[in-house]
Amino acid sequence: MSISNPPHNSEEATNTLKETEGRRDLKTDAGHKKAYKSSERIGTPILEVKDLCHRYPHLEENALDRINLKVYGGDRVAVLGSNGAGKSTLFKHLNGILRPLSGEVLIKGEKITKKNVRMCRETVGIVFQDPDDQVLAPSVEEDVAFGPINMGLPREEVETRVKEAIKMVGLTGLEERAPHHLSGGQKKLVAIAGILAMRPEVIVLDEPTAGLDPMTSARVLELIMKMNRELGITLLLSTHNVDVVPYFAERILVLHHGKLIADGSPDELFNDPELMREAHLRLPRVAEVFEMLQHEGLDVKIQITAEAARDEILRLISSRQKNAGIE
Ligand SMILES: Nc1ncnc2c1ncn2[C@@H]1O[C@H](COP(=O)(O)OP(=O)(O)OP(=O)(O)O)[C@@H](O)[C@H]1O
Ligand SMILES: [Mg+2]
Repeated sequence: MSISNPPHNSEEATNTLKETEGRRDLKTDAGHKKAYKSSERIGTPILEVKDLCHRYPHLEENALDRINLKVYGGDRVAVLGSNGAGKSTLFKHLNGILRPLSGEVLIKGEKITKKNVRMCRETVGIVFQDPDDQVLAPSVEEDVAFGPINMGLPREEVETRVKEAIKMVGLTGLEERAPHHLSGGQKKLVAIAGILAMRPEVIVLDEPTAGLDPMTSARVLELIMKMNRELGITLLLSTHNVDVVPYFAERILVLHHGKLIADGSPDELFNDPELMREAHLRLPRVAEVFEMLQHEGLDVKIQITAEAARDEILRLISSRQKNAGIE
């Protein structure tokens, strides 16, 4: 993807990132004190979900139950929830793949309808959880070209984008290969390249690192972070790997049984182990250690990254040394 051709203003996106502090925990009273007021944000959300309900045919319960949320340009949002919580269902509503039972989804203030669904899919690109649902063309190259060709782009432009996207995900050399002869992780990278080649303003990734080895996972996360930083692309990502969330997300949405039960910063939400347990989620490993230390009676705050953990441990050692009169 060409860095010189951002889909929208990256300076505006950086400002938006700065404004994204102090969101709310929908469950606790304490959370309401820090409530994130959407009115404080300027402009129209890039994505807005209003009272969204979804029910699959022949089921008695809603897979999504009155979901309300706003995402602004440049946000980096992690969607967490146990198996069956509704993450993939929510994602499929974000560019009109599924139709709501009730409620609505708006992209840049415009409700998704049959008429504008094509534009919606160009604005919001989704990398599905299962690459076999997405990677269908006879060769890697053709698969990545599918989106840009459908957008009606000139041939040269399609070729440039395909080459760039394949390079970005590290699949150069595999252009001619049949996707069904690739490994699961490689297929996932083809799906990601296919979305990158369309250069959407919002990229939604449903468990993008599932099945990837640690180095490839890190590369994919770095790549999408770079796109967020340099191009202002808005990111929504679901994952069961909570350890990577603090490094990636500035905001977490927690789904449980189809309901949005929390919406806040990683620091806020991972400092609420009860909430995480209620949602059948675990804390990042680093945070678990700090929770154990708290149970041992140590005066520590739960930390969620390795760097913050190091600083908190050094602070603790230093304050103990001072108390013991050791300089
Ligand atoms: N095509 C479908 N037909 C009927 N029910 C479905 C369908 N897809 C999902 N469901 C049901 O909807 C609920 C939400 O599923 P969804 O796939 O959105 O969960 P998820 O949070 O993405 O889970 P996972 O972490 O396992 O991917 C589940 O109860 C699931 O069984
Ligand atoms: Mg899913």
